[in-house]
Amino acid sequence: MAFPSKPLCSQTWPAFARLVEKHGGIFGGCWCISFHLEPGEAKRGAAAYRAMKEARVREGRAHAALVFDGPNAVGWCQFGPTAELPNIRSQKSYEEGLRRLPDWRITCFFIDRERRGEGIATLALREALRHIARLGGGTVEGYPEDYTDERTSSSFLCSGTLRMFEKSGFRKTRKIAMRRWVVVKRVPQARAKHSTN
Ligand SMILES: CC(C)(COP(=O)(O)OP(=O)(O)OC[C@H]1O[C@@H](n2cnc3c(N)ncnc32)[C@H](O)[C@@H]1OP(=O)(O)O)[C@@H](O)C(=O)NCCC(=O)NCCS
Repeated sequence: MAFPSKPLCSQTWPAFARLVEKHGGIFGGCWCISFHLEPGEAKRGAAAYRAMKEARVREGRAHAALVFDGPNAVGWCQFGPTAELPNIRSQKSYEEGLRRLPDWRITCFFIDRERRGEGIATLALREALRHIARLGGGTVEGYPEDYTDERTSSSFLCSGTLRMFEKSGFRKTRKIAMRRWVVVKRVPQARAKHSTN
């Protein structure tokens, strides 16, 4: 499978917005904003979240690897510096065992519901790691669910599956909920490509 990916940015915002709108705003209007909010921040509506997300994207304060099939975005993997994504799930239990915050977090996946089961989330994760390397690399955490060899509702898997992360070289560090793990990987900085002309 060779779908290209592009970073979420002003140029790719329209494709991202079309994918979200196709799915009714996702979870009734989340617009992939919840991990950007401060823990405990008051909830707002879909229109506010759309505007907040667009402003963040245009200001370079929201990152994702957006996977394309032709002109259409078919899914994404959200990532970002930890300060950009302060609000993870199981926050209290995460903080209890915390030794050091990572440089980067991978918080959310979303794949077009007509395109699931094609390996697009797996590809999006790999692409997010490539973007992180290009942006300087460092320690990367994910917070996937362990449903190895079991099926569950796709909506429970917005942070990905444990096996997806392990296949991409992450290792489990600690459990923060019944099936939710903190996984970590060190990503080296990508070497700059030298042009010969
Ligand atoms: C979960 C999700 C990201 C998976 O995307 P996908 O492109 O179908 O995933 P892939 O084909 O790359 O499969 C990745 C792995 O997840 C597993 N998987 C996918 N859906 C699964 C399910 N419902 N239950 C258990 N495992 C599942 C696959 O079996 C595969 O496992 P493997 O690595 O052992 O082979 C997708 O279903 C999705 O977008 N769900 C909605 C998430 C959501 O609501 N996000 C919004 C947050 S704002």
